[in-house]
Amino acid sequence: MCGIVGSIGFKNTKSFIIDGLKDLDYRGYDSAGLAFSFGKRINIYKAVGSVSNLEAIIPELSLNPYMGVGHTRWATHGKPTEINCHPHQSMHGLFTIVCNGVVENYLQLKQQLQSKGFKFVSDTDTEVISNLLEDRYFETRNIMRSIEETMAVLTGSFAVVFIADMDPKHLYFMKRHSPLMIGRGDHFSLVASDASPMVRYTDKYIDLEDDSYGFISNDDVEIFKNGEKIPFQFTKKSPDITVKDLNGYPHYMLKEIEEIERVIRRLMVEYYDKGEFLFDHELMRALTESDHIVFVACGTSYHASLVGARYFDILGKSTSTHIASEFAYYPQFPGRKPFFIFLSQSGETADVIHCMTTVKEHNIPCLVLTNKKGSTLERGCDFSLLLHAGLEVSVASTKAYAAEVALLALLANAYSNRKEVIRDLEECCGVIADIDQNLKGKVHEIAEELKHSKDIYFLGRGFDYDMSLEASLKLKEITYIHSEAVAGGELKHGPIALISQDTPVIVTISDNVTALSMRANIQEVKARGAKVFTFVTEPLANDTDTIVVKNHKRYLSPVVMSSLAFYFAYYVAVLNDRNVDKPRNLAKSVTVE
Ligand code: AGP
Ligand code: GLU
Repeated sequence: MCGIVGSIGFKNTKSFIIDGLKDLDYRGYDSAGLAFSFGKRINIYKAVGSVSNLEAIIPELSLNPYMGVGHTRWATHGKPTEINCHPHQSMHGLFTIVCNGVVENYLQLKQQLQSKGFKFVSDTDTEVISNLLEDRYFETRNIMRSIEETMAVLTGSFAVVFIADMDPKHLYFMKRHSPLMIGRGDHFSLVASDASPMVRYTDKYIDLEDDSYGFISNDDVEIFKNGEKIPFQFTKKSPDITVKDLNGYPHYMLKEIEEIERVIRRLMVEYYDKGEFLFDHELMRALTESDHIVFVACGTSYHASLVGARYFDILGKSTSTHIASEFAYYPQFPGRKPFFIFLSQSGETADVIHCMTTVKEHNIPCLVLTNKKGSTLERGCDFSLLLHAGLEVSVASTKAYAAEVALLALLANAYSNRKEVIRDLEECCGVIADIDQNLKGKVHEIAEELKHSKDIYFLGRGFDYDMSLEASLKLKEITYIHSEAVAGGELKHGPIALISQDTPVIVTISDNVTALSMRANIQEVKARGAKVFTFVTEPLANDTDTIVVKNHKRYLSPVVMSSLAFYFAYYVAVLNDRNVDKPRNLAKSVTVE
């Protein structure tokens, strides 16, 4: 969520900052701003909306700023307005700062500062940090001590980069729980939320630790923790990012839906070779020794975890699933030897990180399934499995969901040493390819018919219910149409009251165990006037079904049927002229709780 870029000593500060903010835009934001330092003078520019709006208001610069810092904001405290947009300056202008994250105790700190005479112009929590730094500086006349004393009283998560008016030769930073990296080049230094803005200029990175702070200059980096200077090493290894490229597609979301088949094939290569699963033995041992698996995730990843829990349930393992933001406040450690599985595409979701920290405090082993090597969750968990889905740019997750489910299928089958999963996944790839080539046109027709709907309901049971939850979320996220997923059997317990003449209901049937009950549900909603569309697998289909998908193993149907659901949401969004890849109010990586 949101991003930071900064540079010092770089030959073209303006283009580094603007291009870097564009590189980070996949994280989601609602306004953007930057500050240039020309030594004695600092110029600040802010714009609501896109980075291009910001770019448009920056004049031609006759001098290259010696340092600069840019920010894309995803508002948490105060509306997305120009005043709330970063950078923020302290009351007397000594510190010009950008921040990603949330200061939990900002109100209390703000009141303390106000009682000392500090005036605030924005509604943000970030402005509190700038004034705290200034307050501490008036006291100490020492920048590093001001940082230490500021960090000591802040609670929450933050990555902060700032310019100190009295020291135009250094760019300062401090970080806790929000991502921040440094890049070193020849007589310049860079800082950013991830490596993507820096890859064109350096291959020397420092992944900053939590609670570290310090500064960069044109040829130096100094990092401190708890008052001590700490050693660091550069990673030469280029981070796991793929350059963004639409490759001829109109939207990343469509490109990413059509990459699903390839992603599943890649997972098979990564985790199975020469007749053997390639999962870490220690991981398999920890799974086997555990007597309860606890899944924790948010949003789409949570929906994937519901499927994963079913896989292990079927194998007789006891499981539970939790929404991370709920678990954070009501943690539970069932069984004698629980084992935790976190799912997070970004590896940076604050709610999940909070849970990981709690689980680690209890010395319980944990695994994360993530798409982001080097992310906070990947580094923090005992075990990690990469999704190998490639960069997912669209805020609405599609291929990462498919990868999470497919990887959980591989893991559960490895656990029970059932190698047929490879054949099943191969079959599933064929079915998805058929959807991509032959069925998406039909989905487009349904989207055309339903594009003006006020509400759309999804019905399913078992795996089809898990998938319907994801189908409904995807539709909401990118079309803004109200939608609900209902477990077939729950209809009569309430939701059927919402069904009336022409209410659109999309029913998924891929499971022979529940197929008959689902047919009965169709009759129930039709009797109330619903307009029903069915997504059904071949052996369970009849002449009245809307879309018939080739046969595949029922446990993989969430991977297959979600492709249909993703196309559906995508087409409805496009037909309504929605901002498909960047839906309103959403961010790719939710780094605040
Ligand atoms: C996906 O379409 C959503 N934008 C969102 O629900 C997302 O899945 C959730 O925020 C979790 O993200 P993560 O997988 O990166 O942890
Ligand atoms: N909490 C800060 C604000 O609302 C920063 C949000 C962000 O991470 O962009 O301004």
